[in-house]
Amino acid sequence: MKIGIIGVGEMGGTLAVGWSRAGHSVRVANSRGPEAVRKFANEIGAVAADIYGAVEDADVVLLSMPFPAITSLPGDLFDRAAENVVIIDTANYYPDVRDPRIAEIDAGMPESVWVSQQLGRPIFKAFNSIMFYALSELGKAKGAPDRLALPVAGDDVRAKQIVMGLVNDMGFDPVDGGSLEESWRQQPSTPAYCCDYDAAKTLEGIRAAVKGKAEKIRDHEWRERYGRLFASQPTYADVHADVIALNRSLNPL
Ligand SMILES: NC(=O)c1ccc[n+]([C@@H]2O[C@H](COP(=O)([O-])OP(=O)(O)OC[C@H]3O[C@@H](n4cnc5c(N)ncnc54)[C@H](OP(=O)(O)O)[C@@H]3O)[C@@H](O)[C@H]2O)c1
Repeated sequence: MKIGIIGVGEMGGTLAVGWSRAGHSVRVANSRGPEAVRKFANEIGAVAADIYGAVEDADVVLLSMPFPAITSLPGDLFDRAAENVVIIDTANYYPDVRDPRIAEIDAGMPESVWVSQQLGRPIFKAFNSIMFYALSELGKAKGAPDRLALPVAGDDVRAKQIVMGLVNDMGFDPVDGGSLEESWRQQPSTPAYCCDYDAAKTLEGIRAAVKGKAEKIRDHEWRERYGRLFASQPTYADVHADVIALNRSLNPL
């Protein structure tokens, strides 16, 4: 499959590595042109591109940028995209901590519905609810015991199968997170968010989510406890287990 990735930081970079290894044809881009990503692309067997080059002719486009960056993408970015290009977004909204406040989302609009509106295109929400470290280190072969799972939310049934296949290619069980309108169920501080659960527990978490509850947890308890975990500036690998324990404790299942 031809996959264009815009944003090759922790998440986009990890997905570029995994999908290249899985045999996909990967193009990578950030905001600074092909030269800025060429070294990384060469290392992983991908092609360096600008954002237009990442989109052109792609079967799938992955967006993996800081949440507000979606508004900086040019309006004609998808003009030469394939008719049925599948767009996946990994972004999460962390107001005050990292992102400016967005009134519509604070009023209850699901984050990915807002992203989709900015883009003027349908999108899938996937890979937002796993830490990059787990995505890189904890994948397993299909059928392996205790394989971790990831939800995929979005509307088109055929395209969702493609996204689910790409989750599987990364070493995780895909589970159906419902429509894009329901994608709030996998937003930050919901029960299945970044908890390293298997498929059954991930679905249980998606179903257990309560509208409006996660935002309060995210803005208070999560923020305070997460900040404390990183106060001594540990390497991420040293605190991953603590991050997962913290997230699980916010919404015990
Ligand atoms: N890190 C995680 O564990 C994790 C887990 C789940 C979800 N997420 C979400 O995934 C998204 C990406 O997170 P991340 O941690 O990978 O971020 P990151 O490490 O900061 O990487 C962001 C990437 O986006 C690029 N970028 C920024 N602005 C851009 C623009 N206007 N056009 C094109 N490229 C742009 C950056 O490159 P340049 O600035 O050089 O252009 C960089 O390659 C965030 O919304 C985050 O909440 C992250």
